[in-house]
Amino acid sequence: MYDFDAITDRNTPDDIKYEKINGIDDLIPVWVADMDFKSPPEVIDELVRVASNGIYGYSEADKSYDDAVINWFKTRFDWNVEASQIIKLPGVVLAISYAVRVLTSENDHVMILEPVYGPFRRCVEGNGRKLTVEPLKIANGHFEIDLEDMEKKIVEDDVKLLIWCSPHNPGGRVWTEDELRAVAGICKKHGVFIVSDEIHSDLTLYGNRHIPMAKIAGDNCVVLTAPTKTFNIAGIQAANIISTNKEVLKKIDKEALTTGAFGLNKMGIAATRAAYTYGAPWLEELLKYIEGNVALLREELKDTDLVMMEPEGTYLVWIDCSSHNNFAMKLLKDAHVRVSEGSFFGMGGENFIRVNVACPRSVLKEAIKRMKAVL
Ligand SMILES: Cc1ncc(COP(=O)(O)O)c(C=O)c1O
Repeated sequence: MYDFDAITDRNTPDDIKYEKINGIDDLIPVWVADMDFKSPPEVIDELVRVASNGIYGYSEADKSYDDAVINWFKTRFDWNVEASQIIKLPGVVLAISYAVRVLTSENDHVMILEPVYGPFRRCVEGNGRKLTVEPLKIANGHFEIDLEDMEKKIVEDDVKLLIWCSPHNPGGRVWTEDELRAVAGICKKHGVFIVSDEIHSDLTLYGNRHIPMAKIAGDNCVVLTAPTKTFNIAGIQAANIISTNKEVLKKIDKEALTTGAFGLNKMGIAATRAAYTYGAPWLEELLKYIEGNVALLREELKDTDLVMMEPEGTYLVWIDCSSHNNFAMKLLKDAHVRVSEGSFFGMGGENFIRVNVACPRSVLKEAIKRMKAVL
């Protein structure tokens, strides 16, 4: 019903993904995590409706917004959220930074599990906190957590906070209930609060089920959610921060008011409400399309020396290219294909690239063809 094969020219001068690179006119960008698909028609219609009014005054999300958010989480994850447990912010990374600032003090240790989305590290170090990095290990073809080592490091460094990525970017893990329970248990035991970044939670593949950390860790966590990855509205910058821990919410809210970056803009409210109200059928088709693109990549890479990690969620594929030097740079220079460099994701990412498969299949086919020609 939805046309994910359609090619849309999004080549505006302010577009990050399609940013011009000198001397390259035929770039295929499969790097930054947004999609080359148009948002659901209801989202576009709602944004057009708001835009065509012509008045863009201050706005604040009302009950209809909260109802849409609450209903989304109830329907998708059987997660009961109340309006008083939601803080709206213009971005998940901003929320991570706020959480680091209000829940830890300078020089406190914050744990992340690398490789992981690069800004996690920045939010810790940039705020004058110390990093404790737990390396994810590759076992059974995907990332797993060395729980014993994780606990040891937490104790050794007196870690105060864990920034957790679920589903995991770049590995595409949709963590199981057992894994979530184990991590939540260790954190509870040692007084480590959990900031759970669940921006990719709607993007689960092959029937994998995402479980919100809040359903496991309760008051000992805050969950960062957003409609932005799911519905390709990242440029609109909207996030919902959810916790049953009133004290923590209060602190984050105060930090947001102090800095002045709080709430959602008019477009963020309109797009989020429309997406969560009408977007489910579009999302179901999108996920099938992404599964098809992952299958194509899997098939095409099977006879190469590139080793793909099977994603259980997200539209991002983590690929081991250790038999090639500077592979991302080579792809850009020789194939005009831009991928994410593994080093962006920290320790353990050095010999990897991340490929974003959320593009029309014909574009992905061409990107793969060019990649294979470089091999
Ligand atoms: C795990 C993760 N968190 C956060 C973000 C960005 O969130 P925001 O744009 O809301 O700051 C991304 C974007 O790729 C991401 O992958």
